[in-house]
Amino acid sequence: MENRTPLIAGNWKMFKTISEAVETSEQLVKLLAGTSGKDVMIAPPFTALSSVSDIIRESCISLGAQNLFWEKDGAYTGEISPAMLVSAGCKYVIIGHSERRQYFGDNDDTVNKKIRAALGFGLIPILCVGESEKERESDYTFSVLDKQLKKGLEGFSLDDLETTVIAYEPVWAIGTGKTATKEQAQEVHLFLRSLIEKEFGDRLSSSIRILYGGSVNPGNISELMAMPDIDGALVGGASLNPDTFSKIVNLVNI
Ligand code: PGA
Repeated sequence: MENRTPLIAGNWKMFKTISEAVETSEQLVKLLAGTSGKDVMIAPPFTALSSVSDIIRESCISLGAQNLFWEKDGAYTGEISPAMLVSAGCKYVIIGHSERRQYFGDNDDTVNKKIRAALGFGLIPILCVGESEKERESDYTFSVLDKQLKKGLEGFSLDDLETTVIAYEPVWAIGTGKTATKEQAQEVHLFLRSLIEKEFGDRLSSSIRILYGGSVNPGNISELMAMPDIDGALVGGASLNPDTFSKIVNLVNI
C-alpha cells in the first residue's frame, strides 16, 4: 500500500439521535485512545455534528458529513452548505453515496458540483462510486465506474484533488451482508487507480486513497486491507456499534 495512510470511515446514515450519537462518540474516544498511523472518521447525521465535534475534538477521530449542497448560501430550504459543515467541525464529506443517487436524485453532474464546493471550503470529499447488481451481471461494472469517476472528477486539476478520497462501494454489497471478495474489490481498486493515472498522472494515482465499502465487518477487514490497492474502508452498519467499529479500526495494520 505504498505510503498511503489508511482511512477507516464510519457512515452512520440516518441513525442516532443527538444523545445516542454523543454516547457512541464518547465510547469511541475511549476505545480508540492511542490510535496512531491511521485516520479515523465518523459521519453522524447533521443534527448531531456539532455535539459530536465537541466530544472528539482532542481525539484521533475526525468528523465527516454525509452530504452537502453546493451553493454557499441562499433560499434552499432543507439544504446544508459547505460553510455550515466547516463551522460544525467537519473535515470530510461523503459525496455521491449510492443511497443518495438512488433515492435523492444525486447524479454525476451534481456530484461534480458537490466535490467542487467541498474543495472550495477545504473539506475532504469522499467520492463514492459503485455498480448495481444488474450492472455487474451484465458486465457493465467497469464502464459504469469509468463514467462515475471521470464525470465526478471532470474539470479538476491534479492539485485540486490532492486530498480527495475515492470509495468503491458495490451497491449489491451495501447493507446486504454480501461483501465483494477481496479479489473482486482489488480488481476494481486497481482499475480505478489506473484510470486516475490516465486522467491525472501517477503522482495522484499513487497517493490517492481508495476505500472499500459494503458490509465491511471485523471478520473481513483484514483480508480486504491486505490487498495492495485497498487503503481503508467506508463502514455503514458495523460503524454504529462502538465496540465493532473500534475492532475494525484496530484490525487495520499500519
Ligand atoms: P454497510 O454500508 O457497511 O452497511 O454495507 C456501507 C455504506 O453504505 O457506506
